Amino acid sequence: MTMETNVATRRLYARAADPEAYVPAGVLLDEVRAELRRNVPDGPARLDDLLRRAADWASAEGERFRELGDRTHDDEGRRVLVRRAALGCAPLALASGAWLQWLSAPGNAEDPLVLRILALYASDVGVGHPGASRGDAYLDLLRRLRLSENAVPLARLAGDPRVADGAYTLPALLLVMSRRPDDFRGELLGADLCLRTVGLPPPLTLVRQTLPLVADWAVIDPSTARPEDPPPVEECRAVVAELVAREGAAAEAAVLLGFSWALAALRDHADALHAELTASSDPAYDMAELMRLRAREGAVYHHGFELEGRSLAAWLADARTDPSGLLAALSRSKLLKPGRSEASALVKGLVGERGPMFRVFSPDDLTVIRRWIDSLPATSSPVERAGTAGGRAVPAPAAGVARALEAGPWSEGRAPADVREAYHLLMVRTDTPALRSWCLEYVNGWLARSRYGMDGGTMPLPPNWGREGLRPWLQTQHDRHGAEFERNAEVPLPSREDVIDDTVQTAPLTLIDGSWLQGFTDHELASSDIGHALFQTYWDELGNGLAKLNHPLIYRDVLKEMRVDLPPTASPEFARWPGFRDESFELPVYWLCVGRFPRTFLPEVLGLNLAMELSGVGGTYRRARLALKRYGFNTRFVDIHNTIDNVATGHSAWAADAVDILLAGLPEAPGPGSRAETWERVRAGYRSLNPPGGLGARRAARRATRRSRIAPIFPFADRR
Ligand SMILES: [Fe+2]
Ligand SMILES: [Fe+2]
Repeated sequence: MTMETNVATRRLYARAADPEAYVPAGVLLDEVRAELRRNVPDGPARLDDLLRRAADWASAEGERFRELGDRTHDDEGRRVLVRRAALGCAPLALASGAWLQWLSAPGNAEDPLVLRILALYASDVGVGHPGASRGDAYLDLLRRLRLSENAVPLARLAGDPRVADGAYTLPALLLVMSRRPDDFRGELLGADLCLRTVGLPPPLTLVRQTLPLVADWAVIDPSTARPEDPPPVEECRAVVAELVAREGAAAEAAVLLGFSWALAALRDHADALHAELTASSDPAYDMAELMRLRAREGAVYHHGFELEGRSLAAWLADARTDPSGLLAALSRSKLLKPGRSEASALVKGLVGERGPMFRVFSPDDLTVIRRWIDSLPATSSPVERAGTAGGRAVPAPAAGVARALEAGPWSEGRAPADVREAYHLLMVRTDTPALRSWCLEYVNGWLARSRYGMDGGTMPLPPNWGREGLRPWLQTQHDRHGAEFERNAEVPLPSREDVIDDTVQTAPLTLIDGSWLQGFTDHELASSDIGHALFQTYWDELGNGLAKLNHPLIYRDVLKEMRVDLPPTASPEFARWPGFRDESFELPVYWLCVGRFPRTFLPEVLGLNLAMELSGVGGTYRRARLALKRYGFNTRFVDIHNTIDNVATGHSAWAADAVDILLAGLPEAPGPGSRAETWERVRAGYRSLNPPGGLGARRAARRATRRSRIAPIFPFADRR
């Protein structure tokens, strides 16, 4: 295995962790499928057998790791095992559940099966609270062990040299597949069922046994339910059964493949980690590992220092692949006294405050060096070959997948011909370079329109953000909505025809309720300080896993009362439906576009979200209620929004808080990324719910899109 392919797997992990990740179709998907089949045993499998096999393996393997801990009696040895096991499981455990992140989409948000999957995922994420996901519980463990410095953001973990390459293979592929949810739904759910059946990854049983109270093990273990949720293994089994019942043999084969592959990959990883942990009980292993990791930098400096007739730089150069020679030479040298680290020059003089190597080694590194020296026999016979670690045994990484993602060529795809086609293409999470460019251009144009004449007096958000935050402003707006409602009491209600027409023309928007926030289902964002409330809002719009609370479905009920039976939202017939006017797709398409870029357009999405959640509360929802009631239509859709979006504990309050969290953390001094600049972007986002449509505004939009055509607007295609 070459160094290059190892790096490729790490890069794959980091790329797929990006909430705006682009994973192309074509060759890449073939590579993923080939990788899934690579070490899966041939022959037919049955789910029941696989479930039993996974459970048996998990308990036997957990026992094997516990025994390893039992055999290690000294505290330092135990500490080494715990740290290695915790780091070795980090790429998977920090991303626990992330593979479900894109399984809901604007076009399938009414599907009860999708809602059920979303409920499983919401439980993993710890919906409603920042830092409450299963991955966050693991992050807490790493923090307690003082191992978390590379764990946030998740993509950074790819660069942690203490984690073996093979530890990234399983989670990297799961993350890649999560970005192609329609291609891998069965495989993802099969793998998810496997991981939940296994429960706590077996290497972590050793950590739990040593530190039973240091972590929230019930949250880290994906088989354990939160107090308020149903048991996840049973829930996932039910989801899989429903999928197979609905889609038949192909879905079943995909589930079985995902399950078998995940089990084989877990096994590979656990075996490699077990071998690493066993080897590390010899202090020379850790020392060899340390030398291997540092050899490259060290070789730059030590040309003048000789060890047994060779420059230390030459020894270090060898140590990059096999450090055993260097260790043996060191053990024979005057730099150390075998068995007595405290008397050895290597730790005493060289790395001390006045030594030439001060701060080259961290306190943890020094522990490794001391432990190794202390383990050397104090008697004369020098150690001949110290250390066995010439690089860790790792399962083959998904190198083909990584190469395919890096290399291309990808199909450019086709940009939509018009706004109706765009609406249809944006019903799913995946896209093509052409569609992505189109989206960015559409958003840039829309925002340019939104900025046009922004301070002309119609903008309710103040010109500056105050340190008191937006809550007082929100109350004022709410009072205003109430007063307007009272003032309009005498204004006649719209006619029945107008009410129906308005309900129909709003359907392309309302049936994708929450889709401006779709990007916040991303695993890291959904549990972040800013994103958790946005994910919770999305989760509410879709009905908290329940069809009866699903806003699009409730809206369809009203439409039915009006004798309007629309095709499924994701179907081409819906976008072509002649009863809609073209303009009725303009705002929905903006939502669908901007919602795909939760990072690029974070301030704008926060502003739009505030405008959206506040728009009807206290006023227009109440007026709409009167109109619907007058003609005998159900008012549930507006009633539910007037309460759920409320300004004290509801969506509009959360929306204001999200803006405040963002702004409070920004620098005061003017410039890019400053508070003032970001506030302007929030304001433009707020106005983007209802931007001006006049000639000047349209001209501004055209200018902005012309500019964006010149600038690179497709930042993800860093093809080489
Ligand atoms: Fe809603
Ligand atoms: Fe809402």
